[in-house]
Amino acid sequence: MTTIDLTGKTILITGGARGLGAEAGRQALAAGADVVLTDVLDDEGKATAAELGERARFLHHDVTSEQDWQAALKFAVREFGGVDGLVNNAGVTTGGLVAEETVEHFRRVVDINLTGVFIGMKTIIPELTRRGGGAIVNISSAAGLMGMALTAGYGASKWGVRGLSKIAAVELGTARIRVNSVHPGMTYTPMTSVIGIVQGEGNYPNTPMGRVGEPVEIADAVTFLLSDAASYITGAELAVDGGWTAGPTVKYIMGQ
Ligand SMILES: NC(=O)c1ccc[n+]([C@@H]2O[C@H](COP(=O)([O-])OP(=O)(O)OC[C@H]3O[C@@H](n4cnc5c(N)ncnc54)[C@H](O)[C@@H]3O)[C@@H](O)[C@H]2O)c1
Repeated sequence: MTTIDLTGKTILITGGARGLGAEAGRQALAAGADVVLTDVLDDEGKATAAELGERARFLHHDVTSEQDWQAALKFAVREFGGVDGLVNNAGVTTGGLVAEETVEHFRRVVDINLTGVFIGMKTIIPELTRRGGGAIVNISSAAGLMGMALTAGYGASKWGVRGLSKIAAVELGTARIRVNSVHPGMTYTPMTSVIGIVQGEGNYPNTPMGRVGEPVEIADAVTFLLSDAASYITGAELAVDGGWTAGPTVKYIMGQ
């Protein structure tokens, strides 16, 4: 049995100032890794890194910028000697109907959620190759596994992340770089609090498990996929969604 251990590895996590990225950072650190958190939210990012301690760093980084990605790689190499794992977590949500979403907003969401992941992989793959292998975990969504109404740009970007992860996985298998996607369901974070998903406010009947997920439950999956415990897993899509994408709830089918 291989235990989940990231000792000696450096993990770069985008969108790490808060929410799922911050939790993934907390867990990677607890598993022994050095962690570079990046985000456009400087104050929150600095506070999160300070809270995590001396094996964590924060860097301002817009994932849509190739220049910022190069700077993030340089920063990780300077601070910790290299990168062994990349978590492409930064993302923005959207609530548009296909018929109503503006082209400008659609493009902006795809630029952050999908093109940002592409530039990230493109920038970090040579470094992972130099290190003799590594792991990439791309955060997609339940909206990347099913057609979810009101997610025009968001859903399209998350389906794209799912596909791009598989493409990279088949290209990088022999380079010993594993690439997987994680698909969170509804989870308590600042992103979902703005649409009224607030901790302590009861159940969530849409999911077979009848509840909203905790950030730690998503981070558990990310930490596992980063670690050698997942050494033969690549190109996989892991739903961490209380069964949301498995199918409609019994309650829904029975109408009660
Ligand atoms: N919370 C959920 O229920 C849920 C469900 C499915 C998928 N996800 C995905 O999980 C990831 C994390 O979401 P979260 O819930 O923690 O949301 P969040 O809003 O708390 O965190 C996302 C972070 O990404 C950062 N970010 C946004 N644009 C950026 C950019 N251009 N460059 C760098 N950083 C940027 C934000 O500043 C923020 O800190 C996202 O990709 C999201 O789509 C979340």
